[in-house]
Amino acid sequence: MNLLVIGSGGREHALTWKLAQSPLTYRLFCAPGNAGTQVLADNVPIAANDVAALARFAKENRVDFTIVGPDDALGAGIVDLFESERLRIFGPNKNAAQLETSKIFSKQLMGAEQIPTANARTFSSAGDALEYCERVTLPVVIKADGLALGKGVVIAHDREAARTAVRVMMTDRVFGEAGARIIVEECLRGVECSVHALVSGEEFRMLATARDHKRAFDGDAGPNTGGMGAVSPAETWNDHTEEEFTRTIMRPLLAGLTRERRQFRGLLFPGLMVTANGLRVLEFNCRFGDPETQAILPRLKSDLLAPLLAAAEGRLTDTAIEFDRRIAVTVILASGGYPGKYAIGKVINGLQRAAAIPDVFLFHAGTKWQKGEIVTAGGRVLAVTALGSTAEQARERAYAAVNEIQFEGCHFRRDIAVPPRSE
Ligand code: AMP
Ligand code: GLY
Repeated sequence: MNLLVIGSGGREHALTWKLAQSPLTYRLFCAPGNAGTQVLADNVPIAANDVAALARFAKENRVDFTIVGPDDALGAGIVDLFESERLRIFGPNKNAAQLETSKIFSKQLMGAEQIPTANARTFSSAGDALEYCERVTLPVVIKADGLALGKGVVIAHDREAARTAVRVMMTDRVFGEAGARIIVEECLRGVECSVHALVSGEEFRMLATARDHKRAFDGDAGPNTGGMGAVSPAETWNDHTEEEFTRTIMRPLLAGLTRERRQFRGLLFPGLMVTANGLRVLEFNCRFGDPETQAILPRLKSDLLAPLLAAAEGRLTDTAIEFDRRIAVTVILASGGYPGKYAIGKVINGLQRAAAIPDVFLFHAGTKWQKGEIVTAGGRVLAVTALGSTAEQARERAYAAVNEIQFEGCHFRRDIAVPPRSE
């Protein structure tokens, strides 16, 4: 099959790397891709959200199956467009992707299906939201309804921070229409867990779990980022939590979506908080996580393409999915200043030495070729994954590889996969 992977991050490099190993794969394209995907696929200079150009490319190049990485392409209706042109694609349509593109829709569905989540109120007027912020229990979480490049969630520890968040989202419209409506919700305490499951209507198959490290600095300090590292499986996950997840979250969610005639086909990634009172949903994502994917896919022993096709075609039950029992640790190397302002174009050294370490996998994110060298081209630059029989061994290997890599301003966390403090 000819495949097209859409996106340019570490997640897309990991997807491309795994798909390249499939016996079903013939040609691989990646749009727009990065210096890592370029080695495995033909990079195509089309932006991930230029859905019309992507559909044209898929037709002209006889692409048999397209795999969507980022959420904005889903929100832009890429799946609906491809399907209307009889092009096979992996991902939910716009209607089902509302689980991620509208936090208010997903809250309402969770309410209707009694799925455990943080108590929340919805506001469409800044005045009402500001008034509520004066009396709500602190800390409180303020969320823009729509997609906001991962910046639409603010945990406010005092009233001034809450007021500022409301004004930024609703009055200044920093995230455009995504902030026309907001959610103000209770702040949950616990340890986060990212679940990845393939879904086709009411059927689902678990892939794996992971724990993301969202804050920029060690000890969970500093601003939220897209994710500075991950460990898979999540330490909090066991047979008991999986049973609870299936019973209280997955089954009612998929039944609710069916009732609403929003058939979900693709990857569902619920972000959960494991609390003292059980699992709570923080949000639903409708795509693979980044950097979760870079930790999960090196553990996948079986083929990836077959289950993705099976999910897209509604026959999930008969596909084989087998995971390595070892633990994967992924460390993100970021540009100095990320998630704020950062410089690009810095030469990256040591990639070959790092990749030569056994059980280490390097995934590119913000990288590109320039005059025969690989240079930085984004905030998150590389994901370094290592497998180990224990988390300690995986960490040692991952950091040994990290230490081989240099670029000016390189920043990474040193505590990825250190067990979470219990709250
Ligand atoms: P999101 O942008 O929806 O992925 O949320 C970003 C992050 O905000 C989550 O991964 C959590 O770390 C945090 N978060 C969201 N909702 C809550 C909540 N109700 N309580 C505590 N933390 C939250
Ligand atoms: N790492 C979190 C996400 O992909 O949304």
